[in-house]
Amino acid sequence: MRIDIFTLFPEWFRWLSSQRHIANAIAAGSSIECVDFRGYTPLSGGQVDDTPFGGGAGMVLRVDVLDSAIRGYYGVDPVELRERRRVIALAPGGRLLDEPLVAELAAEPELTLLCGRYEGFDERILEHFASDVVSIGRYVLSGGEPAAMVICDAVMRKLPGALGDERSVKEESFSEALEGNPEYPHYTRPAEYRGWNVPDVLLSGHHSQIETWRRERSRERGGSPAREEGG
Ligand code: 6GU
Repeated sequence: MRIDIFTLFPEWFRWLSSQRHIANAIAAGSSIECVDFRGYTPLSGGQVDDTPFGGGAGMVLRVDVLDSAIRGYYGVDPVELRERRRVIALAPGGRLLDEPLVAELAAEPELTLLCGRYEGFDERILEHFASDVVSIGRYVLSGGEPAAMVICDAVMRKLPGALGDERSVKEESFSEALEGNPEYPHYTRPAEYRGWNVPDVLLSGHHSQIETWRRERSRERGGSPAREEGG
Protein backbone atom coordinates (compact mmCIF):
# COMPACT_ATOMS: atom_id res chain seq x y z
CA MET A 1 0.00 0.00 0.00
CA ARG A 2 1.31 3.37 -0.97
CA ILE A 3 -0.28 6.48 0.56
CA ASP A 4 0.61 9.93 -0.78
CA ILE A 5 -0.48 12.87 1.35
CA PHE A 6 -0.78 16.40 0.00
CA THR A 7 -0.34 18.70 2.97
CA LEU A 8 1.16 22.00 4.11
CA PHE A 9 2.51 20.20 7.20
CA PRO A 10 4.56 17.23 6.00
CA GLU A 11 6.60 17.15 9.22
CA TRP A 12 3.49 16.06 11.18
CA PHE A 13 3.61 12.72 9.42
CA ARG A 14 7.18 11.90 10.41
CA TRP A 15 6.01 11.12 13.91
CA LEU A 16 3.18 9.00 12.55
CA SER A 17 5.54 6.98 10.35
CA SER A 18 7.69 6.14 13.37
CA GLN A 19 4.82 4.54 15.30
CA ARG A 20 5.09 0.79 15.68
CA HIS A 21 2.38 -0.65 13.44
CA ILE A 22 2.89 2.01 10.76
CA ALA A 23 6.64 1.42 10.91
CA ASN A 24 5.98 -2.34 10.59
CA ALA A 25 3.80 -1.77 7.52
CA ILE A 26 6.50 0.47 6.01
CA ALA A 27 9.18 -2.15 6.72
CA ALA A 28 6.93 -4.68 4.93
CA GLY A 29 6.88 -2.54 1.77
CA SER A 30 4.17 0.08 2.35
CA SER A 31 4.92 3.78 2.18
CA ILE A 32 3.63 7.15 3.33
CA GLU A 33 4.91 9.98 1.14
CA CYS A 34 4.16 13.63 1.90
CA VAL A 35 3.90 16.28 -0.76
CA ASP A 36 4.14 19.86 0.48
CA PHE A 37 1.91 21.49 -2.09
CA ARG A 38 3.22 24.93 -1.24
CA GLY A 39 6.33 23.78 -3.11
CA TYR A 40 4.29 23.45 -6.32
CA THR A 41 2.30 26.68 -6.20
CA PRO A 42 2.53 28.82 -9.34
CA LEU A 43 1.73 31.90 -7.22
CA SER A 44 4.32 34.18 -5.68
CA GLY A 45 5.34 34.01 -2.04
CA GLY A 46 4.17 30.42 -1.64
CA GLN A 47 0.52 31.46 -1.79
CA VAL A 48 -1.93 28.55 -1.80
CA ASP A 49 -5.23 30.05 -0.67
CA ASP A 50 -7.42 33.05 -1.34
CA THR A 51 -10.45 34.94 -0.05
CA PRO A 52 -13.85 33.45 -0.91
CA PHE A 53 -15.87 34.87 -3.79
CA GLY A 54 -19.08 36.30 -2.38
CA GLY A 55 -17.33 37.33 0.80
CA GLY A 56 -17.18 35.70 4.19
CA ALA A 57 -14.64 34.64 6.73
CA GLY A 58 -11.55 32.56 6.14
CA MET A 59 -9.46 31.46 3.21
CA VAL A 60 -10.06 28.83 0.55
CA LEU A 61 -7.52 26.52 -1.09
CA ARG A 62 -7.12 27.40 -4.74
CA VAL A 63 -7.96 24.94 -7.51
CA ASP A 64 -5.02 26.06 -9.67
CA VAL A 65 -2.58 25.36 -6.82
CA LEU A 66 -3.86 21.80 -6.29
CA ASP A 67 -3.85 21.29 -10.06
CA SER A 68 -0.16 22.18 -10.38
CA ALA A 69 0.79 20.21 -7.26
CA ILE A 70 -0.92 16.99 -8.39
CA ARG A 71 0.27 17.44 -11.98
CA GLY A 72 3.79 18.32 -10.79
CA TYR A 73 4.04 15.29 -8.54
CA TYR A 74 2.39 12.61 -10.71
CA GLY A 75 2.98 14.09 -14.14
CA VAL A 76 -0.69 13.59 -15.07
CA ASP A 77 -3.78 15.75 -15.21
CA PRO A 78 -5.58 15.40 -11.82
CA VAL A 79 -8.82 14.81 -13.73
CA GLU A 80 -7.22 11.63 -15.11
CA LEU A 81 -5.45 10.69 -11.90
CA ARG A 82 -8.73 10.09 -10.09
CA GLU A 83 -9.71 7.57 -12.79
CA ARG A 84 -6.64 5.53 -11.89
CA ARG A 85 -6.62 5.67 -8.09
CA ARG A 86 -8.68 6.87 -5.16
CA VAL A 87 -7.96 10.57 -4.58
CA ILE A 88 -9.52 11.40 -1.25
CA ALA A 89 -10.18 14.97 -0.18
CA LEU A 90 -10.58 15.33 3.59
CA ALA A 91 -13.45 17.60 4.56
CA PRO A 92 -15.89 17.66 7.50
CA GLY A 93 -18.95 17.19 5.28
CA GLY A 94 -17.67 14.10 3.43
CA ARG A 95 -18.62 10.42 3.64
CA LEU A 96 -18.17 9.30 7.24
CA LEU A 97 -15.22 6.99 7.77
CA ASP A 98 -16.32 3.65 9.19
CA GLU A 99 -14.95 0.12 9.21
CA PRO A 100 -16.41 -0.86 5.79
CA LEU A 101 -14.83 2.23 4.19
CA VAL A 102 -11.52 1.48 5.94
CA ALA A 103 -11.62 -2.08 4.56
CA GLU A 104 -12.40 -0.70 1.09
CA LEU A 105 -9.42 1.66 1.24
CA ALA A 106 -7.10 -1.01 2.66
CA ALA A 107 -7.76 -3.08 -0.46
CA GLU A 108 -6.41 -0.30 -2.75
CA PRO A 109 -2.78 -0.50 -3.84
CA GLU A 110 -2.42 3.29 -3.84
CA LEU A 111 -4.22 6.19 -2.20
CA THR A 112 -3.84 9.94 -2.44
CA LEU A 113 -5.06 12.07 0.46
CA LEU A 114 -5.64 15.81 0.05
CA CYS A 115 -5.52 17.81 3.28
CA GLY A 116 -7.31 21.14 3.29
CA ARG A 117 -6.69 24.01 5.67
CA TYR A 118 -8.54 27.21 6.40
CA GLU A 119 -12.19 27.19 5.31
CA GLY A 120 -11.45 24.26 3.03
CA PHE A 121 -11.22 23.51 -0.67
CA ASP A 122 -12.45 25.43 -3.66
CA GLU A 123 -15.45 23.27 -4.61
CA ARG A 124 -13.94 22.54 -8.04
CA ILE A 125 -11.16 20.54 -6.37
CA LEU A 126 -13.78 18.23 -4.85
CA GLU A 127 -15.76 18.08 -8.08
CA HIS A 128 -12.97 17.45 -10.56
CA PHE A 129 -9.85 16.16 -8.75
CA ALA A 130 -11.21 14.02 -5.90
CA SER A 131 -12.75 10.57 -6.31
CA ASP A 132 -14.02 10.69 -2.71
CA VAL A 133 -14.62 13.23 0.03
CA VAL A 134 -14.16 11.69 3.46
CA SER A 135 -14.83 12.98 6.98
CA ILE A 136 -13.91 11.40 10.31
CA GLY A 137 -16.88 12.85 12.18
CA ARG A 138 -19.38 15.64 12.37
CA TYR A 139 -17.17 18.27 13.96
CA VAL A 140 -14.69 20.72 12.47
CA LEU A 141 -10.92 20.29 12.59
CA SER A 142 -8.64 23.15 11.60
CA GLY A 143 -7.25 20.99 8.82
CA GLY A 144 -7.44 17.59 7.18
CA GLU A 145 -4.12 16.33 8.62
CA PRO A 146 -5.47 14.65 11.76
CA ALA A 147 -8.11 12.96 9.59
CA ALA A 148 -5.40 11.77 7.16
CA MET A 149 -3.53 10.31 10.12
CA VAL A 150 -6.65 8.52 11.28
CA ILE A 151 -7.06 7.01 7.81
CA CYS A 152 -3.37 5.96 7.67
CA ASP A 153 -3.63 4.35 11.10
CA ALA A 154 -6.92 2.54 10.46
CA VAL A 155 -5.93 1.38 6.96
CA MET A 156 -2.34 0.34 7.64
CA ARG A 157 -3.12 -1.76 10.69
CA LYS A 158 -5.19 -3.94 8.36
CA LEU A 159 -2.17 -4.79 6.21
CA PRO A 160 -0.47 -8.13 6.75
CA GLY A 161 2.40 -7.85 9.22
CA ALA A 162 1.38 -4.47 10.69
CA LEU A 163 0.20 -5.98 13.97
CA GLY A 164 2.02 -8.70 15.85
CA ASP A 165 -0.92 -11.09 15.73
CA GLU A 166 -3.26 -11.35 12.71
CA ARG A 167 -6.09 -12.41 15.03
CA SER A 168 -6.15 -8.83 16.35
CA VAL A 169 -7.56 -7.66 13.01
CA LYS A 170 -9.91 -10.61 12.36
CA GLU A 171 -11.68 -10.50 15.73
CA GLU A 172 -11.70 -6.80 16.46
CA SER A 173 -14.56 -4.35 16.78
CA PHE A 174 -16.84 -4.06 13.73
CA SER A 175 -15.17 -7.02 11.99
CA GLU A 176 -17.15 -9.63 10.06
CA ALA A 177 -16.18 -12.19 12.68
CA LEU A 178 -18.12 -10.09 15.20
CA GLU A 179 -20.99 -9.44 12.77
CA GLY A 180 -20.06 -5.75 12.65
CA ASN A 181 -20.50 -5.33 16.42
CA PRO A 182 -18.07 -3.72 18.88
CA GLU A 183 -15.56 -5.98 20.54
CA TYR A 184 -16.38 -8.05 23.63
CA PRO A 185 -14.85 -6.99 26.99
CA HIS A 186 -11.28 -8.06 27.79
CA TYR A 187 -9.76 -8.88 31.17
CA THR A 188 -6.29 -9.76 32.37
CA ARG A 189 -4.59 -10.44 35.72
CA PRO A 190 -5.35 -9.92 38.54
CA ALA A 191 -8.56 -12.01 38.48
CA GLU A 192 -9.86 -10.06 41.47
CA TYR A 193 -9.07 -6.42 42.17
CA ARG A 194 -10.74 -4.30 44.86
CA GLY A 195 -13.57 -6.81 44.86
CA TRP A 196 -14.06 -6.50 41.09
CA ASN A 197 -14.06 -10.00 39.66
CA VAL A 198 -13.33 -11.26 36.18
CA PRO A 199 -16.36 -13.22 34.86
CA ASP A 200 -16.04 -16.87 35.92
CA VAL A 201 -16.52 -18.21 32.41
CA LEU A 202 -13.23 -16.62 31.26
CA LEU A 203 -11.35 -18.50 33.97
CA SER A 204 -13.15 -21.78 33.27
CA GLY A 205 -11.04 -23.03 30.37
CA HIS A 206 -14.25 -23.96 28.45
CA HIS A 207 -13.41 -22.61 25.02
CA SER A 208 -16.87 -23.00 23.48
CA GLN A 209 -18.52 -21.33 26.49
CA ILE A 210 -15.98 -18.52 26.35
CA GLU A 211 -16.69 -18.13 22.65
CA THR A 212 -20.45 -17.99 23.27
CA TRP A 213 -20.05 -15.49 26.11
CA ARG A 214 -17.89 -13.24 23.94
CA ARG A 215 -20.35 -13.31 21.00
CA GLU A 216 -23.21 -12.45 23.36
CA ARG A 217 -21.37 -9.52 24.96
CA SER A 218 -20.34 -8.26 21.53
CA ARG A 219 -23.94 -8.41 20.28
CA GLU A 220 -25.18 -6.60 23.39
CA ARG A 221 -22.71 -3.81 22.80
CA GLY A 222 -23.85 -3.60 19.20
CA GLY A 223 -27.42 -3.14 20.38
CA SER A 224 -28.71 -6.54 19.28
CA PRO A 225 -30.09 -8.95 21.87
CA ALA A 226 -27.78 -11.81 22.86
CA ARG A 227 -28.99 -14.89 21.01
CA GLU A 228 -28.94 -18.36 22.50
CA GLU A 229 -26.25 -20.30 20.70
CA GLY A 230 -26.05 -24.07 20.52
CA GLY A 231 -29.13 -24.60 22.76
CL1 6GU B 1 -11.68 15.19 7.06
N1 6GU B 1 -11.47 17.70 7.84
C1 6GU B 1 -11.75 18.72 8.66
N2 6GU B 1 -11.22 19.91 8.40
N3 6GU B 1 -12.55 18.61 9.70
C2 6GU B 1 -13.06 17.40 9.92
C3 6GU B 1 -12.81 16.29 9.12
C4 6GU B 1 -11.99 16.48 8.07
N4 6GU B 1 -13.48 15.23 9.61
C5 6GU B 1 -14.12 15.69 10.67
N5 6GU B 1 -13.88 16.98 10.86
